[in-house]
Amino acid sequence: MPTILAIESSCDETSASICTDGIIRSNVTATQKVHEQYGGVVPELASRAHMQNIVPVVDAAIKDANCTFDEIDAFAFTQSPGLIGALLVGGQFAKSLALALNKPLISVHHMQAHVIANLIDNPKPAFPFLCLTVSGGHTQIVLCESPLKMQVVGQTIDDAAGEAFDKTAKIMGLPYPGGPLIDKYAQEGNPNRYSFPEPQIAGLDFSFSGLKTSIMYFLNNGGQSNAFKEEYQVSVEERESFIKDNLHDICASVQHRIVSILLNKLKKASKQYGIKEIAIAGGVSANSGLRKAIQDLGNDLNWNVYLPSFTYCTDNAAMIAITAHYKYLSGDFVDLSVSSSARAQWS
Ligand code: KG4
Ligand code: ZN
Repeated sequence: MPTILAIESSCDETSASICTDGIIRSNVTATQKVHEQYGGVVPELASRAHMQNIVPVVDAAIKDANCTFDEIDAFAFTQSPGLIGALLVGGQFAKSLALALNKPLISVHHMQAHVIANLIDNPKPAFPFLCLTVSGGHTQIVLCESPLKMQVVGQTIDDAAGEAFDKTAKIMGLPYPGGPLIDKYAQEGNPNRYSFPEPQIAGLDFSFSGLKTSIMYFLNNGGQSNAFKEEYQVSVEERESFIKDNLHDICASVQHRIVSILLNKLKKASKQYGIKEIAIAGGVSANSGLRKAIQDLGNDLNWNVYLPSFTYCTDNAAMIAITAHYKYLSGDFVDLSVSSSARAQWS
């Protein structure tokens, strides 16, 4: 029954979505291109772009859903984690609408919303399920017992999987965000041509910083070895031509290792908890190598694997709207004094 207008502005996508009774009616996202030239998201530029985009994006979401502001029962926004200036734009906008129209306000945790994106389309995972949440800032295995009850059972101790993709791409001279580009080049490459080490981390936690370093040494050695010898064993020109001549195989091999690190831990978690309902979420879940590998593994291990559609993998407001839907049903509202939080870790 409730109709909710949700806003997402935690990083570099300004997004608005309308959902009625858990069905997404519109989901409009403006991606900020301004960061490409800087090799990463520049927080101040992100806040400014959100301020430019927020009115047209919300307007388009209302129009796409064929809806009016009078129909909205509650306003929702991403509270945390994210860039503080970016979060403030979406948060203040949602608060202003809630105040002006005298409607309740719902705050949503961005990482919880990535997981709940799996409940937008059919078929939906049955509870309890395990979700591998892989984004630019997080890498987690989440045990979900209900839409609002979930716990992180494994996570990265350093870089996130998305960072591993983006930083590797940067080392190779590719623009930000590098993840989709590595995915594209990997499709025509040999994943077994080069071998990068798999970190030995206890339990269900992940580590990606060593992989990034070994790739850097590998490229600096002109592809001869990924062991540390001395930086720049080859000239800058030789390094560049090695990357250019072998780009597809390097990307395929890097992607292969990132995917195997993720899936080995997921396999372990499935065994440990005895759960075969397996979902993925977050920007990196758009990766074609990961999507194929998890389906193959699922076939081998009799898992039911759930892959959100591409629009719901990277940051979007539909995932905020669907999470807010469940919060609305349980009466979980916040008042206007609630603050946004930039904390990367938020329980
Ligand atoms: O979830 P998301 O949109 O934003 C965060 O909450 O961080 O994830 C962004 C991350 C970036 O690191 C981006 O490179 C990565 O997701 N990404 C991909 C692909 N599409 C997005 N990584 C690998 N392959 C892709 N196809
Ligand atoms: Zn995200």
